[in-house]
Amino acid sequence: LCAENGVAQRVLSKVLAEIRPTPRDEQALKGFSERIIELLGKAFPKSEVDQISVEGSLAKRTWLRGREEVDVFAQFLPSVPKERMAKLTVGVASEVISSLGGVVKLRYAEHPYVEGIINGVRVNIVPCYRVEPGGWLTAVDRTPYHTRYVRSELSEEAADQVRLLKAFLHASGLYGAEIRVGGFSGYVSELLIILHDSFLKLIHEAANWRPPVVIDASKSVLDEKQREKFPSAPMILVDPVDVDRNAAAAVSLQKLSEFIILSKLFEARPSEAFFRAPPDAKMPQEPGMRSIVGILFGLRKARPPDVLWGEILSTGSGYETALRRHGFGVWRWEAWSDESKVMLLYELESLSLPQFYLHQGPEVHRPQALSFIHKHVGSRDTAAGPYVRGERLYAVKKRHVRTAADALSQATARGEVAVAADLKDELATAEILQDLETILQRVGEDREMHRFIVNFIGGLPPYITHLSE
Ligand SMILES: Nc1ncnc2c1ncn2[C@@H]1O[C@H](COP(=O)(O)OP(=O)(O)OP(=O)(O)O)[C@@H](O)[C@H]1O
Ligand SMILES: [Mg+2]
Repeated sequence: LCAENGVAQRVLSKVLAEIRPTPRDEQALKGFSERIIELLGKAFPKSEVDQISVEGSLAKRTWLRGREEVDVFAQFLPSVPKERMAKLTVGVASEVISSLGGVVKLRYAEHPYVEGIINGVRVNIVPCYRVEPGGWLTAVDRTPYHTRYVRSELSEEAADQVRLLKAFLHASGLYGAEIRVGGFSGYVSELLIILHDSFLKLIHEAANWRPPVVIDASKSVLDEKQREKFPSAPMILVDPVDVDRNAAAAVSLQKLSEFIILSKLFEARPSEAFFRAPPDAKMPQEPGMRSIVGILFGLRKARPPDVLWGEILSTGSGYETALRRHGFGVWRWEAWSDESKVMLLYELESLSLPQFYLHQGPEVHRPQALSFIHKHVGSRDTAAGPYVRGERLYAVKKRHVRTAADALSQATARGEVAVAADLKDELATAEILQDLETILQRVGEDREMHRFIVNFIGGLPPYITHLSE
């Protein structure tokens, strides 16, 4: 175990040297954030904004080199109405970002904020209310308390352990609480290190996790009642700043499971590859034999990423349901978007189904037995029956939809897919791509889309890719 730990430690020191910001970078970033605070302080009326503070990973010393980001919070007095808060922030923040030569983006879904890129560094200017714990008025009012908690509990060395964890999660697509990812936020990463002391100790624990994973970061007793507050969460991490909140609410069962297997893989064979972007997947031999269908549609209007991805994921599972209802075996599906178009891919057991299928009816003693007979006897699509076998009724029926492509077009045309209403118009002109050959032809020169398809065909998650080399 000691020897293995030695290997792991060597790997981690090497990675840390790459991801830890240099003192000079740190100085520059801090100076930059002070400049922004100074400008915002002059522009916001003091009667409404109580304090302007640096929050997020910069304040907590947990950002990664190359992923520098300045999160600045304008803490409003609770007497300021929400509309006024939003309007003032958008106005002031846009002006400050522009005056520093930055490009302003407004892409928020629920809580207003302004994002700008200044000299390649992302700056988020976020309004919140300055309130006492428990008196939360918006979703981000806890943030200054999160920052304070992490700063008081996380030593300098432990902050580096958070950096390792964040890089590890990033490399495998598990970092981020946004809907597209459904993974681990920066704050969850910090809490996990605070609770387990180091990256290696956390990995050792996580390798033995079994969902639902319940961790009480508040160190109060997590009784049954508290557990019941978050009934369906695969991971419960009680927020020490607010025991009524699950800090890990965004973590999906999928991403939690990936983290568990990833921890097992790393423990078994520690390597720097777990912290790096995986090599591009290669097109396998004879992919044409596989049963893969796709849907491709353009987006005519822009939406915030969380809104868009909520719609994409519900549309994707709507098509899955439609395919299953028609009798197709759906093995897996994935979605891709560059925010101007969306592609959904499904791997099925087969692209087409036999002409006839066996329709199972009720047992003869059931009250519905007679209506089953009346419904199917003499019907145009009944090929045989209805008849009795054992104690049950059956009929052999003719299929109307035999190919996956037809099932997808029909689901689209009839609005059978439980899509977010907002995507309906764009889906009406969706292209149904009937097989892999059509998919590959259609993609043509789009490199990002091509990479998505090749990765989908391979079906290997990033953290397994380097093991297959
Ligand atoms: N959707 C949200 N709801 C509530 N709070 C949020 C939300 N998004 C961000 N925050 C708060 O803003 C802070 C900064 O968020 P951010 O996502 O930038 O994480 P971070 O800790 O700065 O990590 P990094 O920027 O390195 O990914 C977080 O600590 C969190 O408290
Ligand atoms: Mg941040």
